[in-house]
Amino acid sequence: MSNGMKIGSLHLDNPTLLAPLAGVTNLPFRLLAREAGCGLVCTEMVSADGLAHGSAHTLYFLRSLPAEKPLAVQIFGSDPAVMAEAAAIVQDSGADVVDINFGCAVRKVIRAGAGVALMRTPKRAEALLRAVRQAVRIPITIKIRSGWDRSGREALDIGIIAEHCGVDAVTIHPRSAAQKFSGRADWALIAALKRRLSIPVIGNGDVRSAQDAAQMIADTGCDAVMIGRRAIGYPRIFTDVLCRLQGQVPAPEHLDQRLDVMRRYIGLTVACYGEDIARRLVRNRLGWFAKGMRGSTALRQAAARTDAIGDALALIDAYRTAAMVRGQEASAWSGPSADRHFSRTVPPAATVAGWLRTASA
Ligand SMILES: Cc1cc2nc3c(=O)[nH]c(=O)nc-3n(C[C@H](O)[C@H](O)[C@H](O)COP(=O)(O)O)c2cc1C
Repeated sequence: MSNGMKIGSLHLDNPTLLAPLAGVTNLPFRLLAREAGCGLVCTEMVSADGLAHGSAHTLYFLRSLPAEKPLAVQIFGSDPAVMAEAAAIVQDSGADVVDINFGCAVRKVIRAGAGVALMRTPKRAEALLRAVRQAVRIPITIKIRSGWDRSGREALDIGIIAEHCGVDAVTIHPRSAAQKFSGRADWALIAALKRRLSIPVIGNGDVRSAQDAAQMIADTGCDAVMIGRRAIGYPRIFTDVLCRLQGQVPAPEHLDQRLDVMRRYIGLTVACYGEDIARRLVRNRLGWFAKGMRGSTALRQAAARTDAIGDALALIDAYRTAAMVRGQEASAWSGPSADRHFSRTVPPAATVAGWLRTASA
């Protein structure tokens, strides 16, 4: 199980995948997941219309770096010709897999006949998959839900159609369109789909720990596990899962390691987008990593107020110092070399002083 898997012609080192997450799985985040051991990373959903029309904003989502490979790009849309054109653009961009969104339950997407609406229109789904298959050589995957209702009938039907159309793997998040993210993912449906198909089935939904991942594989027989929400702020989940799949017990995370990941995320964001964009992105996103940490609200609020990358980095260092003063686990630390040039930047005194007061209260 831990010795990798194949999706069509593509060999993955291991059976863990990062879920497409709108607003989250940008290039720096994907690099982080890959560094943690993830077998295949994925972009957020990208508009096929936008790609086909050459929208600069949309094409930006295709930016990639060799270090994150292999990469899947997820596209959404409902017009077979447009989807085929978009898939060809994705292939030309150097992506390893094109993934097609059959699961988005946002009203605007459904109204356009895309996302989970495709699960109710099997003829259109089939035409779309055939068109995409003809347009690209790289592996194609689809990501589905249970369907419009919870019965799972549509998931099984679409799975069969996909296999006949030459799709190379199916990911299932077994919740219905109406459920969105409520209730529990119905893992029994993953097992039913696995029994029905001969192409790989990737299970998704509610994997929050290494134990959950192992359980999903044991319960359903799925070929790989895709992780979404738990990876937000805790990309180390992939390291934990790999460890567990090799029969070992994952080591608990130390505070220092979490703080290092924050710094790494900042460093990667600056490297990918430049300091100006990174400054705005990091402000809103550092809070993800603070979840569960003592004083996390104060840290998140302080991060949201930072005006410069140096402020954000200094905030992390101040948190480390405060933890050390409290006697919490903290050891001598030297940051990743890529971040070294930031380490001497000093934040406004008021930012740190204010935050330190709240954090150590
Ligand atoms: C913030 C957020 C953004 C998401 N964006 C996408 C997306 O762009 N495409 C997609 O297929 N699913 C998307 N999803 C669904 C996830 O990929 C995944 O199927 C779902 O979160 C269940 O997996 P999890 O329990 O591991 O989080 C999104 C979910 C969240 C929470």
